[in-house]
Amino acid sequence: MSIKASVKEHFSVSPISRHLKNHFAYLHGFNDLKLTYPDGNLLMRKFDLEDVDKCAELFKEVFSVYPWYDNWVSIDKTKTYLMELIENPVFEGYVAYDGLNLVAVCFGHKRSWWMGKEFFIDEFYVRNESQGNGIGTRMLNYVKEILIEEEYMRLVLLTNKGIPAEEFYNKNGFYNNQNRTVMVKEL
Ligand SMILES: CC(C)(COP(=O)(O)OP(=O)(O)OC[C@H]1O[C@@H](n2cnc3c(N)ncnc32)[C@H](O)[C@@H]1OP(=O)(O)O)[C@@H](O)C(=O)NCCC(=O)NCCS
Repeated sequence: MSIKASVKEHFSVSPISRHLKNHFAYLHGFNDLKLTYPDGNLLMRKFDLEDVDKCAELFKEVFSVYPWYDNWVSIDKTKTYLMELIENPVFEGYVAYDGLNLVAVCFGHKRSWWMGKEFFIDEFYVRNESQGNGIGTRMLNYVKEILIEEEYMRLVLLTNKGIPAEEFYNKNGFYNNQNRTVMVKEL
């Protein structure tokens, strides 16, 4: 690992003051990462392409078990799917790390709707062992804070009815738009 990379890693995992972190980011051009430290060792920041392998592994782990049981047969398949989201020109992603351990991911895309800008969440997931500890709520609040700063008006997403995620979104202020339905045609 280069000296620059190891210093960056040190600053990413150590509980040092915001002032020092901002100073370091300014000097080394990392201020676009939007560093925030909501608690001791949890780092939330914008997604970087270097995160993609970890995001793909975590995606497969989370969605292969209850309540989804998706049959992602390989990491390559999950990575292909995530890369399709990432390559969207209006893609934006956010990640949360506990030390070097990726614990939460939010991938979505920006839409310039006539009623104002909105952010469509394509994927949102928390490491299985870490679920139910408030990380998803904190991640959502972090994303919300950034989007409000950027004058976004609303978050939109699709999820399944009757699963724990629906309750999670309800508790976080989402509502079910009764005027909308999901239409699918098998080919
Ligand atoms: C849904 C998810 C993102 C929520 O994040 P989280 O960190 O577990 O949620 P929080 O701890 O902030 O909030 C907890 C609340 O969410 C709900 N919840 C959803 N999934 C949960 C889980 N696996 N374990 C515990 N609570 C869960 C509960 O209502 C809980 O409220 P309670 O503590 O009063 O019982 C996360 O559980 C997850 O990744 N689940 C699997 C993937 C998924 O379903 N993603 C959403 C796809 S649209």
